[in-house]
Amino acid sequence: MKLIYQQMLAFFAVIMTTLLIVGLFFIQFTNKMVYETTWDQLEGYADSLMQQAMTVDKRTNTFTGFQVSMLSNSEAVLSQQKVHFAIFSDKNKMIYPLTDGRGPVMARQLTKADWQKLKQGKRIYCKSDHGTNVLNNQQEMTDVLVPYFYNGDLKAVISVGSLVSNVHANITKIEHNLFMALLISSVAAVIMSFLLAKYQVLRINRLRGAAHKVAKGDFDVKIDAKHHDELDDLAIDFNQMTTSLRESEDEIKRQEDRRRQFMADAAHEMRTPLTTINGLLEGLQYDAIPEDMRGKSIELMQNETKRLIRIVNENLDYEKIRTNQISLSKRNFDGTEALKNIVMQLTNKSNNANNDLILTPGPSVQVYADYDRFVQVMFNVIQNAIQFTQGGTITITAKHGYHETIFTVQDTGIGMSAEQVQNIWERYYKADPSRKNTKYGESGLGLAIVHQLVQLHGGEIKVDSKENVGTTFTISFPDQVASQETTPDAVESKKD
Ligand SMILES: Nc1ncnc2c1ncn2[C@@H]1O[C@H](COP(=O)(O)OP(=O)(O)OP(=O)(O)O)[C@@H](O)[C@H]1O
Ligand SMILES: [Mg+2]
Repeated sequence: MKLIYQQMLAFFAVIMTTLLIVGLFFIQFTNKMVYETTWDQLEGYADSLMQQAMTVDKRTNTFTGFQVSMLSNSEAVLSQQKVHFAIFSDKNKMIYPLTDGRGPVMARQLTKADWQKLKQGKRIYCKSDHGTNVLNNQQEMTDVLVPYFYNGDLKAVISVGSLVSNVHANITKIEHNLFMALLISSVAAVIMSFLLAKYQVLRINRLRGAAHKVAKGDFDVKIDAKHHDELDDLAIDFNQMTTSLRESEDEIKRQEDRRRQFMADAAHEMRTPLTTINGLLEGLQYDAIPEDMRGKSIELMQNETKRLIRIVNENLDYEKIRTNQISLSKRNFDGTEALKNIVMQLTNKSNNANNDLILTPGPSVQVYADYDRFVQVMFNVIQNAIQFTQGGTITITAKHGYHETIFTVQDTGIGMSAEQVQNIWERYYKADPSRKNTKYGESGLGLAIVHQLVQLHGGEIKVDSKENVGTTFTISFPDQVASQETTPDAVESKKD
């Protein structure tokens, strides 16, 4: 069944049930009200009849009876309104109307139980009762029995009754009106439930339409939502979802572009050494290389092979770190000493670029890390600084902070723009693509690996850079205590 019909049915059922319950209560209430009003009226008649027709001997202060003429006058008037009455003596003898067979007698027969109640001064209200024959028709009556006392003694009981058909006529009129109201309400309920259902379904369809667009790859769809209800919340979630999808699609695209670029770079990178090696091998095979150049050729081939191995290894290394497949064997060691070694290894490269490579002197600083990985991190960052600085200064510092060891590598090189800084941790990223194929390789993997390694240590790496001014990398490694508090699993659970 379509949602709109389900909703309509639900709304309609709720409205109709409410209407029916209210209607039933209303009918019951009016029924009671009509009877009570009739009884009030009949009681009024009974009281006035008694007051008018009762006769009392003033001298002896005793009740003497009723004025029959007065009663028959009243009877004539009341019968016009289809109201009948009868008076009984305290001995349950009908004293009015006199049953001489001329007129109708409309009074219920009083039972023993009735008398008991009446003697206690209680009034009796009867909803319906079979009266005696009226114009040969059996008619139902509703009546009130009122006892009358004089000087504390029950003197008479008056029974005043009206035809039930009179009462019912009023009730039927009200019921008819109610039925009409119910009919109109039902039509209104159908229209209302249709409009309500339509509104809800429209909102759902809006979401459906948007979901279809997303399924077709359009992630720019947005739905208006105002935080009113759950459907609005759903729309907001949907908008967030499309934003995330758009972002991840962009990210996938960027990654894909970079991967493609890297593949092209790697192919290019590999082709050069492979061509060189191939040429040299052919030269050797056909004795085209003079004897004194053979040693040099083999050395060249070795260098080119190393370069190839480096590219392959870096890729493998990155994947291993990324998938947590490496284990760190952390220990405390002298960080300054390790830096001195790195500086020694890189001084040559630095000199080639006319740079000053300075390790600021100071007390030796202890660091808690995996020695080889620490060297790898610092080597990469310092090598980058040399690589992107010409005729400048590279300053390295080491100090102990609060539960951490902090290293900075500052250069006065080409620097980076804010956008470039954002991307440097990504694999294959090179801020300046034209600077590929340098002697340092430049696969764009160095910092991606560094970042992963520092994170794996529970440390932090930050960069501050300004174009044509320089770059500062700040790397911190937590101390043993802090490291075990924050990343207990990062160290121990990483197993090959
Ligand atoms: N000190 C620096 N000054 C300016 N730019 C830098 C610096 N360090 C890194 N970069 C930029 O960040 C990019 C990424 O550096 P990363 O070390 O990851 O790759 P790479 O040095 O190009 O290649 P390799 O994989 O050989 O290290 C660099 O290509 C460069 O554009
Ligand atoms: Mg690098």
